[in-house]
Amino acid sequence: MQDYVTLTYRGESFQLPVIVGSENERAIDILRLRKETGFITYDPGYANSGACMSSITYMNGEQGILRYRGIPVEELAEKSTFKETAYLLINGQLPKADELRNFSIMLNDHSLVHEDMKAFYQNFPRASHPMGILSAMVNALRSFYPELQTTEEEINFTVTRLLAKVRTMAAMSYKISRGHTLVYPRPDLAYCENFLNMMFDTPVRPYQLTKEVVRALEVFWILHADHEQNCSTTAVRVVGSGRVNLYAAISAGMSALWGPLHGGANQAVVEMLTAIHQDGGNFRGAVARAKDRNDPFRLMGFGHRVYKTYDPRARIMKRVCDDLLAALNLKDPLLDIAKELEEVALKDPYFIDHNLYPNVDFYSGIVLRAIGIPTNMFTVMFAIGRLPGWISQWKESMDDPHWRISRPRQIYTGPNETHYVPMQDRT
Ligand code: ACO
Repeated sequence: MQDYVTLTYRGESFQLPVIVGSENERAIDILRLRKETGFITYDPGYANSGACMSSITYMNGEQGILRYRGIPVEELAEKSTFKETAYLLINGQLPKADELRNFSIMLNDHSLVHEDMKAFYQNFPRASHPMGILSAMVNALRSFYPELQTTEEEINFTVTRLLAKVRTMAAMSYKISRGHTLVYPRPDLAYCENFLNMMFDTPVRPYQLTKEVVRALEVFWILHADHEQNCSTTAVRVVGSGRVNLYAAISAGMSALWGPLHGGANQAVVEMLTAIHQDGGNFRGAVARAKDRNDPFRLMGFGHRVYKTYDPRARIMKRVCDDLLAALNLKDPLLDIAKELEEVALKDPYFIDHNLYPNVDFYSGIVLRAIGIPTNMFTVMFAIGRLPGWISQWKESMDDPHWRISRPRQIYTGPNETHYVPMQDRT
């Protein structure tokens, strides 16, 4: 039976249909609101607005649940690989053995980037941030691979090519920023191993892959693979709604991810922990600053728009962090500070009242440091992980029967009609 809510204004009532999702999430359908009532809604930051229906990711911020295509992220982090999770997100189900084999072959076959792209890379100023380079180069892929992306076959081809190349392009930006010789992808290595080898192998010191590092990277990427309608995914959908090519939409997502309130938080966390370390480990001072309304400082890696409890990804990341440091026999003073900071914050009434808990970025930077990833590459690592999510959301939006170009309204608060004043009459 169709339910409705009733909107009443000055004695007149309007019936608005209720939509219920598969996990009983409820929404008020306001599709006809403006037409029938003249009203629009006001929701800065879209905190209460559903912009699409999606069957990809379910998250419940009150209960700390995250599932990709119905599968809990905890199970995927324990049992799956990033490649398999990417397939799951993009295609809607786990691959059968032959499907995974074909996917791997495609990823290998397309992992090289056009040699002419090197010229672009080499002309970025040395101090360029790798995120800026990566988003620009992903957009540039369209010029190198201008094939149509219309039929399902063409789209699948472009999607796999992008997944394969982004990993190579990210490692290239690192090597070029160091002035090192490029390392090409190897067909005998799997997705994560290949990336690590392209990043760290040098002609004088061959990179030794270790299973603990590979597993930590797999889990890091699985945990970042999708997170429903966050800032960067929304950017992908909004830009994609104008029917741009996949590369342009993903490049927009990468730009959105770069911000310190979003994917840039992993870099910001390590910078914050380093500053606390250099300040003699004064984590209590940081907590006090975060609570001070007159100080713009925030505890990076804390808080989330949706999670009002512990981010399930942060819980897994914390364990990965402990295991990796133990396996590598590493001691990182930033991990000690992070744990102390977390303990103090979780007992503090300000953080309790505001429902502020560690998010995925709080421990991920320490994991990346242990792997050997430089701080300015952290958000690039996040971007590689989020790519399957962006791609699956873009694909879903392309097939959406309710598709419309994104075009929000506004409440205008500027001057009423006024007239042009010639220069000599302006006082
Ligand atoms: N430290 C201190 N106070 C905080 C923090 C924080 N990290 N986060 C939120 N608050 C406070 C705000 O000051 C505000 O307080 P008030 O109501 O007393 O004014 C209240 O909590 C609500 O904060 P908003 O900014 O309105 O919450 P919003 O949902 O818009 O923002 C965000 C969420 C951006 C993640 C925020 O918590 C934040 O800035 N966190 C730090 C950056 C970070 O870790 N980002 C990564 C998010 S996860 C991801 O993108 C992968």
